[in-house]
Amino acid sequence: MRVLGIETSCDETGVGVFDGDRGLLAHAVYSQVEIHAEYGGVVPELASRDHVRKTLPLIRQVLSEAGLPKESIDGVAFTAGPGLIGALLVGTAVGRALAWAWGVPALGVHHMEGHLLAPMLEAPAPAFPFVALLVSGGHTQLVEATAVGRYRLLGESLDDAAGEAFDKTAKILGLPYPGGPALAKLAEHGDPRRYRFPRPMTERPGLDFSFSGLKTFTLNTLQREMARTDDPARTRADIARAFEEAVVDTLVIKCRRALRQCASRRLVVAGGVGANRRLRARMDAMATQEDSEVFYPRPAFCTDNGAMIAYAGWQRLRAGQAEPLAFRPRARWLMEELPPV
Ligand code: KG4
Ligand code: ZN
Repeated sequence: MRVLGIETSCDETGVGVFDGDRGLLAHAVYSQVEIHAEYGGVVPELASRDHVRKTLPLIRQVLSEAGLPKESIDGVAFTAGPGLIGALLVGTAVGRALAWAWGVPALGVHHMEGHLLAPMLEAPAPAFPFVALLVSGGHTQLVEATAVGRYRLLGESLDDAAGEAFDKTAKILGLPYPGGPALAKLAEHGDPRRYRFPRPMTERPGLDFSFSGLKTFTLNTLQREMARTDDPARTRADIARAFEEAVVDTLVIKCRRALRQCASRRLVVAGGVGANRRLRARMDAMATQEDSEVFYPRPAFCTDNGAMIAYAGWQRLRAGQAEPLAFRPRARWLMEELPPV
């Protein structure tokens, strides 16, 4: 079975084609970064309008570059939530309409399930069961996954998601949107020994997270240190580094705890923050100590993309799941509500 995947939940238009026999055949992402940059964050209405402009041309481009006639598509998967409702409506409407026109089944994919399954596009792919850390701009979750569609939430952020914390802290540091990658870049030049930031909620038991305090801690540190430093550039880099160390360390501590709690030796790390190099290095070191393995998508498939939606859709469409014509996107949607496959 060959599935076209469409992602439009936020500020990236993504398209991918996954084939059960041949694997990933094609994919492309168009990023709206330039549109939102002048506002310092995603403007939902602009995002929706740009998805309207880009989704069909991107599908056409991906199919034609890969030499895939539309008749060769056996099913269409589109991100149906969670995300920005206007943006989701575009992908849902386009995906549903194409499936109807082509006479093939359609399926609304849960965006976080897309992230969770993305490492399965790589070799070696993780086998079930595993513990997954999902770290994106909107979510930070630890999940025990025993099969496609069988997910148990172990812990999640009580306030800001990890990516959101990166983005907001980057803004505090005067970095341009999108903040996460910019902060990571600045932190490369920082000295990790100069400041030590708290590791929130690691002292007490449990697997929940809280990152909003770190943002305030960064702001206070910045204001205090900038007033007395004679090397502002270096101080900013050192503060960025201390923030990154704190987030990464916190995530690693909780992942170690989750692996032990689930008696698992397999960890999946996915979502935009999973592209962070220091996070990957620290997770790898922890996994080695725990005699475990970590699986990541390639960095381009950590951030939003259509390939993961095509893959997650294929997993469900091939099992006979499909959505009726009247299907609606959902801005909020719990992953645990998904039916098993
Ligand atoms: O998964 P994603 O593309 O979109 C959502 O589903 O939210 O994640 C985007 C998030 C943003 O907050 C972005 O700043 C963050 O991932 N991000 C990073 C890095 N690359 C992307 N954060 C830290 N370091 C990175 N290298
Ligand atoms: Zn995402």
